Amino acid sequence: MNDEIFSDRMLSLALARVSEAAAIASAKLVGGGDEKAADQAAVDAMRTELNKLDIAGVIVIGEGERDEAPMLFIGEEVGTGDGPGVDIALDPLEGTTLTAKDMPNALTVIAMGPRGSMLHAPDVYMDKLAIGPGYADGVVNLDMSPTERIEALAAAKGCAPSDLMICVLERPRHQEMIQEIRKTGARIRLITDGDVAGVMHCAEPDKTGIDMYMGSGGAPEGVLAASALKCMGGQMQGRLLFRNDDERGRARKAGITDLNRIYSRDEMVTEDVIFAATGVTDGSIVSGIKRDGNFIETETILMRSKTGSVRRLFYRMKIE
Ligand code: FBP
Repeated sequence: MNDEIFSDRMLSLALARVSEAAAIASAKLVGGGDEKAADQAAVDAMRTELNKLDIAGVIVIGEGERDEAPMLFIGEEVGTGDGPGVDIALDPLEGTTLTAKDMPNALTVIAMGPRGSMLHAPDVYMDKLAIGPGYADGVVNLDMSPTERIEALAAAKGCAPSDLMICVLERPRHQEMIQEIRKTGARIRLITDGDVAGVMHCAEPDKTGIDMYMGSGGAPEGVLAASALKCMGGQMQGRLLFRNDDERGRARKAGITDLNRIYSRDEMVTEDVIFAATGVTDGSIVSGIKRDGNFIETETILMRSKTGSVRRLFYRMKIE
Protein backbone atom coordinates (compact mmCIF):
# COMPACT_ATOMS: atom_id res chain seq x y z
CA MET A 1 0.00 0.00 0.00
CA ASN A 2 1.33 3.43 -0.81
CA ASP A 3 0.16 6.61 0.89
CA GLU A 4 -2.21 7.54 -1.92
CA ILE A 5 -5.50 8.88 -0.62
CA PHE A 6 -8.81 7.23 -1.39
CA SER A 7 -10.23 8.90 -4.50
CA ASP A 8 -13.90 8.05 -4.35
CA ARG A 9 -14.55 9.76 -7.68
CA MET A 10 -11.95 7.75 -9.59
CA LEU A 11 -12.87 4.45 -8.01
CA SER A 12 -16.63 4.68 -8.32
CA LEU A 13 -16.89 3.55 -11.94
CA ALA A 14 -14.54 0.70 -11.19
CA LEU A 15 -16.84 -0.35 -8.38
CA ALA A 16 -19.79 -0.51 -10.77
CA ARG A 17 -17.82 -2.92 -12.96
CA VAL A 18 -17.28 -5.19 -9.96
CA SER A 19 -20.97 -5.42 -9.10
CA GLU A 20 -21.95 -5.79 -12.78
CA ALA A 21 -19.55 -8.71 -13.19
CA ALA A 22 -21.03 -10.51 -10.19
CA ALA A 23 -24.57 -10.06 -11.51
CA ILE A 24 -23.66 -11.26 -14.99
CA ALA A 25 -21.95 -14.33 -13.54
CA SER A 26 -25.04 -15.30 -11.57
CA ALA A 27 -27.41 -14.62 -14.48
CA LYS A 28 -27.48 -18.18 -15.77
CA LEU A 29 -28.42 -19.42 -12.33
CA VAL A 30 -31.49 -17.20 -11.80
CA GLY A 31 -34.44 -19.49 -11.20
CA GLY A 32 -32.20 -22.56 -11.18
CA GLY A 33 -32.98 -23.54 -7.61
CA ASP A 34 -29.30 -23.75 -6.60
CA GLU A 35 -28.50 -20.98 -4.11
CA LYS A 36 -24.92 -22.11 -3.50
CA ALA A 37 -23.99 -22.23 -7.19
CA ALA A 38 -25.45 -18.76 -7.79
CA ASP A 39 -23.57 -17.35 -4.80
CA GLN A 40 -20.30 -19.02 -5.83
CA ALA A 41 -20.52 -17.63 -9.37
CA ALA A 42 -21.05 -14.11 -7.99
CA VAL A 43 -18.23 -14.49 -5.45
CA ASP A 44 -15.72 -15.69 -8.09
CA ALA A 45 -16.58 -12.87 -10.47
CA MET A 46 -16.47 -10.19 -7.80
CA ARG A 47 -13.09 -11.36 -6.56
CA THR A 48 -11.60 -11.52 -10.06
CA GLU A 49 -12.74 -7.97 -10.83
CA LEU A 50 -11.63 -6.60 -7.46
CA ASN A 51 -8.17 -8.03 -7.95
CA LYS A 52 -7.77 -6.00 -11.15
CA LEU A 53 -8.14 -2.70 -9.25
CA ASP A 54 -5.19 -0.59 -8.16
CA ILE A 55 -6.13 -0.63 -4.49
CA ALA A 56 -4.74 -2.13 -1.31
CA GLY A 57 -8.13 -3.43 -0.25
CA VAL A 58 -9.15 -5.33 2.85
CA ILE A 59 -12.47 -7.13 3.10
CA VAL A 60 -14.16 -6.02 6.33
CA ILE A 61 -17.63 -7.33 5.51
CA GLY A 62 -17.42 -10.44 3.36
CA GLU A 63 -18.42 -14.04 2.93
CA GLY A 64 -17.50 -15.03 6.48
CA GLU A 65 -14.45 -15.70 8.58
CA ARG A 66 -11.29 -17.17 7.08
CA ASP A 67 -11.98 -20.71 8.27
CA GLU A 68 -15.48 -20.78 6.77
CA ALA A 69 -15.09 -18.87 3.50
CA PRO A 70 -12.46 -19.80 0.91
CA MET A 71 -12.87 -16.48 -0.89
CA LEU A 72 -13.63 -12.91 0.06
CA PHE A 73 -13.26 -13.84 3.71
CA ILE A 74 -13.00 -11.13 6.35
CA GLY A 75 -9.44 -9.85 6.37
CA GLU A 76 -8.64 -11.02 2.81
CA GLU A 77 -6.50 -8.55 0.90
CA VAL A 78 -7.73 -7.71 -2.57
CA GLY A 79 -6.55 -5.49 -5.42
CA THR A 80 -3.10 -5.13 -6.94
CA GLY A 81 -1.80 -3.61 -3.70
CA ASP A 82 -0.62 -0.67 -5.73
CA GLY A 83 -2.96 2.09 -4.63
CA PRO A 84 -4.84 3.57 -1.69
CA GLY A 85 -5.68 1.50 1.37
CA VAL A 86 -9.42 0.84 1.38
CA ASP A 87 -12.05 -1.01 3.40
CA ILE A 88 -14.48 -3.10 1.38
CA ALA A 89 -17.89 -4.37 2.41
CA LEU A 90 -19.57 -6.72 0.00
CA ASP A 91 -22.32 -9.23 -0.50
CA PRO A 92 -21.72 -10.76 -3.94
CA LEU A 93 -25.28 -12.05 -3.97
CA GLU A 94 -27.69 -10.42 -1.53
CA GLY A 95 -30.70 -12.71 -1.77
CA THR A 96 -29.38 -16.13 -2.73
CA THR A 97 -32.84 -17.66 -2.29
CA LEU A 98 -34.46 -14.80 -4.24
CA THR A 99 -32.06 -15.59 -7.08
CA ALA A 100 -32.57 -19.35 -6.95
CA LYS A 101 -36.34 -18.84 -7.04
CA ASP A 102 -36.35 -15.84 -9.41
CA MET A 103 -38.06 -13.61 -6.85
CA PRO A 104 -37.69 -9.80 -6.76
CA ASN A 105 -34.92 -7.63 -5.31
CA ALA A 106 -31.83 -9.87 -5.51
CA LEU A 107 -28.76 -7.62 -5.81
CA THR A 108 -25.01 -7.79 -5.99
CA VAL A 109 -23.70 -5.23 -3.48
CA ILE A 110 -20.35 -3.61 -2.73
CA ALA A 111 -19.23 -0.54 -0.78
CA MET A 112 -15.74 0.94 -0.45
CA GLY A 113 -14.28 3.57 1.84
CA PRO A 114 -10.94 4.66 3.27
CA ARG A 115 -9.17 2.21 5.59
CA GLY A 116 -10.88 2.15 8.99
CA SER A 117 -14.17 3.63 7.77
CA MET A 118 -16.50 0.69 8.37
CA LEU A 119 -17.70 -1.21 11.42
CA HIS A 120 -16.20 -4.70 11.47
CA ALA A 121 -19.55 -6.36 12.11
CA PRO A 122 -19.34 -10.08 12.87
CA ASP A 123 -21.68 -12.53 11.18
CA VAL A 124 -24.44 -12.27 13.81
CA TYR A 125 -27.89 -10.70 13.70
CA MET A 126 -28.51 -6.99 14.01
CA ASP A 127 -31.67 -5.22 15.11
CA LYS A 128 -32.24 -2.55 12.46
CA LEU A 129 -34.34 0.57 12.14
CA ALA A 130 -34.31 2.89 9.14
CA ILE A 131 -36.27 5.83 7.76
CA GLY A 132 -35.77 8.09 4.78
CA PRO A 133 -34.38 11.62 4.57
CA GLY A 134 -36.14 14.81 5.69
CA TYR A 135 -36.89 13.94 9.33
CA ALA A 136 -35.39 15.53 12.46
CA ASP A 137 -32.44 13.57 13.77
CA GLY A 138 -33.51 10.83 16.21
CA VAL A 139 -37.25 11.11 15.50
CA VAL A 140 -37.36 7.33 15.91
CA ASN A 141 -34.86 5.13 17.69
CA LEU A 142 -34.19 1.50 18.56
CA ASP A 143 -35.07 1.99 22.23
CA MET A 144 -38.66 2.88 21.31
CA SER A 145 -41.29 0.17 20.98
CA PRO A 146 -42.66 -0.43 17.46
CA THR A 147 -45.83 1.46 18.50
CA GLU A 148 -43.82 4.46 19.71
CA ARG A 149 -41.79 4.51 16.48
CA ILE A 150 -44.93 4.48 14.35
CA GLU A 151 -46.63 7.21 16.39
CA ALA A 152 -43.51 9.39 16.26
CA LEU A 153 -43.02 8.92 12.52
CA ALA A 154 -46.70 9.55 11.75
CA ALA A 155 -46.59 12.79 13.80
CA ALA A 156 -43.40 13.89 12.02
CA LYS A 157 -44.87 13.11 8.61
CA GLY A 158 -48.18 14.72 9.51
CA CYS A 159 -50.23 11.64 8.70
CA ALA A 160 -52.09 8.82 10.42
CA PRO A 161 -50.32 5.57 11.33
CA SER A 162 -52.50 3.87 8.72
CA ASP A 163 -50.80 6.00 6.05
CA LEU A 164 -47.41 4.48 6.90
CA MET A 165 -45.95 1.38 5.24
CA ILE A 166 -43.41 -0.54 7.31
CA CYS A 167 -41.05 -3.03 5.67
CA VAL A 168 -40.33 -6.19 7.69
CA LEU A 169 -38.58 -9.50 6.95
CA GLU A 170 -41.12 -12.29 7.19
CA ARG A 171 -39.70 -14.49 9.92
CA PRO A 172 -41.26 -16.30 12.91
CA ARG A 173 -39.04 -14.17 15.20
CA HIS A 174 -40.92 -11.07 13.97
CA GLN A 175 -44.45 -12.35 14.63
CA GLU A 176 -44.94 -10.36 17.85
CA MET A 177 -43.58 -7.19 16.27
CA ILE A 178 -45.81 -7.66 13.23
CA GLN A 179 -48.88 -7.99 15.45
CA GLU A 180 -47.93 -4.86 17.36
CA ILE A 181 -47.39 -2.89 14.13
CA ARG A 182 -50.79 -4.02 12.80
CA LYS A 183 -52.49 -2.88 16.04
CA THR A 184 -51.34 0.68 15.38
CA GLY A 185 -53.09 0.62 11.99
CA ALA A 186 -49.82 0.91 10.05
CA ARG A 187 -49.47 -1.39 7.06
CA ILE A 188 -46.66 -3.85 6.47
CA ARG A 189 -44.72 -4.83 3.35
CA LEU A 190 -43.39 -8.28 4.17
CA ILE A 191 -40.27 -9.37 2.33
CA THR A 192 -38.98 -12.94 2.28
CA ASP A 193 -35.30 -11.93 2.01
CA GLY A 194 -33.01 -9.06 1.14
CA ASP A 195 -32.98 -6.46 3.88
CA VAL A 196 -30.28 -4.30 2.21
CA ALA A 197 -32.90 -3.52 -0.42
CA GLY A 198 -35.51 -3.28 2.37
CA VAL A 199 -33.56 -0.48 4.09
CA MET A 200 -32.72 1.24 0.80
CA HIS A 201 -36.43 1.38 -0.01
CA CYS A 202 -36.88 3.86 2.87
CA ALA A 203 -34.70 6.42 1.08
CA GLU A 204 -37.14 6.71 -1.83
CA PRO A 205 -40.59 6.48 -0.19
CA ASP A 206 -42.38 8.14 -3.11
CA LYS A 207 -41.10 5.44 -5.43
CA THR A 208 -41.23 2.40 -3.15
CA GLY A 209 -44.10 3.35 -0.82
CA ILE A 210 -42.02 2.33 2.21
CA ASP A 211 -41.61 4.74 5.16
CA MET A 212 -39.72 2.68 7.72
CA TYR A 213 -37.77 -0.56 7.96
CA MET A 214 -37.57 -2.50 11.23
CA GLY A 215 -36.54 -5.90 12.51
CA SER A 216 -33.49 -8.12 12.71
CA GLY A 217 -31.34 -9.44 9.89
CA GLY A 218 -27.67 -10.04 9.19
CA ALA A 219 -25.24 -7.58 10.78
CA PRO A 220 -22.99 -7.56 7.67
CA GLU A 221 -26.02 -6.57 5.59
CA GLY A 222 -26.62 -3.83 8.18
CA VAL A 223 -23.28 -2.19 7.43
CA LEU A 224 -23.94 -2.42 3.69
CA ALA A 225 -27.37 -0.86 4.16
CA ALA A 226 -25.83 1.93 6.28
CA SER A 227 -23.35 2.62 3.44
CA ALA A 228 -26.23 2.89 0.97
CA LEU A 229 -28.25 5.23 3.20
CA LYS A 230 -25.19 7.40 3.81
CA CYS A 231 -25.21 8.03 0.06
CA MET A 232 -28.99 8.27 -0.46
CA GLY A 233 -29.86 10.12 2.77
CA GLY A 234 -31.92 8.75 5.62
CA GLN A 235 -31.39 7.58 9.17
CA MET A 236 -30.46 4.13 10.37
CA GLN A 237 -29.65 2.53 13.72
CA GLY A 238 -28.35 -0.97 14.41
CA ARG A 239 -27.68 -3.03 17.53
CA LEU A 240 -25.89 -6.38 17.37
CA LEU A 241 -27.86 -9.35 18.69
CA PHE A 242 -26.14 -12.37 20.19
CA ARG A 243 -27.64 -15.84 20.60
CA ASN A 244 -24.71 -17.49 22.39
CA ASP A 245 -21.15 -17.09 23.66
CA ASP A 246 -19.66 -18.10 20.34
CA GLU A 247 -21.34 -15.07 18.73
CA ARG A 248 -20.23 -12.78 21.56
CA GLY A 249 -16.71 -14.13 21.03
CA ARG A 250 -16.90 -13.29 17.31
CA ALA A 251 -17.78 -9.71 18.18
CA ARG A 252 -14.91 -9.38 20.65
CA LYS A 253 -12.54 -10.85 18.05
CA ALA A 254 -13.74 -8.15 15.66
CA GLY A 255 -12.72 -5.54 18.25
CA ILE A 256 -16.19 -4.74 19.60
CA THR A 257 -16.16 -4.11 23.35
CA ASP A 258 -19.62 -2.68 24.08
CA LEU A 259 -21.93 -5.49 22.96
CA ASN A 260 -25.13 -3.52 23.67
CA ARG A 261 -24.17 -0.40 21.78
CA ILE A 262 -26.62 1.20 19.40
CA TYR A 263 -24.79 2.31 16.26
CA SER A 264 -26.06 5.19 14.17
CA ARG A 265 -25.61 5.11 10.41
CA ASP A 266 -22.49 7.28 10.69
CA GLU A 267 -21.04 5.16 13.47
CA MET A 268 -21.32 2.08 11.26
CA VAL A 269 -19.79 3.97 8.34
CA THR A 270 -17.61 6.77 9.67
CA GLU A 271 -16.23 8.31 6.47
CA ASP A 272 -17.42 8.97 2.94
CA VAL A 273 -17.93 5.82 0.90
CA ILE A 274 -18.95 4.71 -2.55
CA PHE A 275 -21.64 2.09 -3.09
CA ALA A 276 -22.72 0.01 -6.09
CA ALA A 277 -25.53 -2.50 -6.46
CA THR A 278 -26.56 -4.31 -9.63
CA GLY A 279 -29.94 -5.93 -10.07
CA VAL A 280 -29.98 -9.69 -10.47
CA THR A 281 -33.76 -10.08 -10.39
CA ASP A 282 -36.18 -7.21 -11.01
CA GLY A 283 -36.72 -4.90 -8.07
CA SER A 284 -37.88 -1.44 -7.14
CA ILE A 285 -34.34 -0.08 -6.88
CA VAL A 286 -32.90 -1.47 -10.11
CA SER A 287 -34.11 -3.84 -12.82
CA GLY A 288 -32.78 -7.36 -12.98
CA ILE A 289 -30.58 -8.87 -15.65
CA LYS A 290 -32.17 -9.08 -19.08
CA ARG A 291 -31.12 -11.21 -22.02
CA ASP A 292 -31.82 -9.90 -25.47
CA GLY A 293 -30.57 -12.15 -28.25
CA ASN A 294 -26.81 -12.20 -28.03
CA PHE A 295 -26.74 -9.46 -25.42
CA ILE A 296 -27.01 -9.31 -21.68
CA GLU A 297 -28.10 -6.10 -19.97
CA THR A 298 -27.72 -4.93 -16.39
CA GLU A 299 -28.74 -1.92 -14.34
CA THR A 300 -26.51 -0.63 -11.54
CA ILE A 301 -27.08 2.06 -8.94
CA LEU A 302 -23.78 3.79 -8.20
CA MET A 303 -23.55 6.36 -5.41
CA ARG A 304 -21.04 8.58 -3.59
CA SER A 305 -21.82 9.80 -0.10
CA LYS A 306 -19.48 12.80 -0.40
CA THR A 307 -21.62 14.42 -3.08
CA GLY A 308 -24.87 12.49 -2.65
CA SER A 309 -24.63 11.65 -6.35
CA VAL A 310 -26.73 8.76 -7.57
CA ARG A 311 -26.11 7.30 -11.03
CA ARG A 312 -28.05 4.56 -12.75
CA LEU A 313 -25.88 2.76 -15.26
CA PHE A 314 -27.25 0.53 -18.00
CA TYR A 315 -24.69 -1.90 -19.35
CA ARG A 316 -25.05 -4.06 -22.42
CA MET A 317 -22.58 -6.83 -23.16
CA LYS A 318 -22.33 -9.22 -26.09
CA ILE A 319 -22.38 -12.87 -25.13
CA GLU A 320 -21.32 -15.88 -27.17
P1 FBP B 1 -28.48 -14.39 1.78
O1 FBP B 1 -28.42 -13.70 0.49
O2 FBP B 1 -27.15 -14.64 2.39
O3 FBP B 1 -29.35 -15.61 1.68
O4 FBP B 1 -29.18 -13.37 2.83
C1 FBP B 1 -30.48 -12.94 2.64
C2 FBP B 1 -31.04 -12.28 3.88
O5 FBP B 1 -32.44 -12.16 3.71
C3 FBP B 1 -30.46 -10.92 4.24
O6 FBP B 1 -30.92 -9.88 3.42
C4 FBP B 1 -30.86 -10.77 5.67
O7 FBP B 1 -30.08 -9.82 6.37
C5 FBP B 1 -30.65 -12.17 6.20
O8 FBP B 1 -30.78 -13.05 5.05
C6 FBP B 1 -31.65 -12.57 7.26
O9 FBP B 1 -31.24 -13.75 7.84
P2 FBP B 1 -32.25 -14.96 8.19
O10 FBP B 1 -32.65 -15.59 6.87
O11 FBP B 1 -31.44 -15.87 9.03
O12 FBP B 1 -33.42 -14.37 8.88
